Amino acid sequence: MEQTIGTYVCGSEAETESAGEALARTIEEKEEEGVRGAFVAMYGELGAGKTAFVRGMARVLSPGSTVRSPTYTVVNEYGRGKVPLYHFDLYRITDDDDLYSVGYYDYIDRGICVAEWSENAQDSLPSPRYEVKIDKTGENTRNIAVSYIG
Ligand SMILES: Nc1ncnc2c1ncn2[C@@H]1O[C@H](COP(=O)(O)OP(=O)(O)OP(=O)(O)O)[C@@H](O)[C@H]1O
Ligand SMILES: [Mg+2]
Repeated sequence: MEQTIGTYVCGSEAETESAGEALARTIEEKEEEGVRGAFVAMYGELGAGKTAFVRGMARVLSPGSTVRSPTYTVVNEYGRGKVPLYHFDLYRITDDDDLYSVGYYDYIDRGICVAEWSENAQDSLPSPRYEVKIDKTGENTRNIAVSYIG
């Protein structure tokens, strides 16, 4: 079951961050209803705005944390909210052994996870999950589609 959560036309990085905030608020409401440990799979080319979207999410879920691309560390933890937010960059992940060695499967059960370059772990993504697809339509414009896969 795939359900559309929202579609956004963003004309600036700030608007992409706001779309991230909106998804984070949805996740936060679900947490309050007892739905734990959301997973957000992100798709989009280099420079699409994935990290910008996560910055918006962290503003809600871990206020005051500085979001940086975990390109070398694979995962960053932002721990200023009620539930930890784990930010993955799977750009360098090639197989399941890589996922095990960075502790991917342990993090999934411990908090809210958001993963850039989910293309690289397509067979290892949990369900249910959210999916965020960002299309670069121009220098400063992005189309963002957010859905829920049940
Ligand atoms: N509407 C927009 N939304 C998001 N970013 C935008 C937008 N317009 C321009 N940009 C620029 O595009 C870049 C997006 O960078 P960002 O690091 O968020 O991308 P990314 O998808 O995480 O890339 P990577 O695959 O390297 O991790 C930034 O330099 C940002 O200023
Ligand atoms: Mg990034």
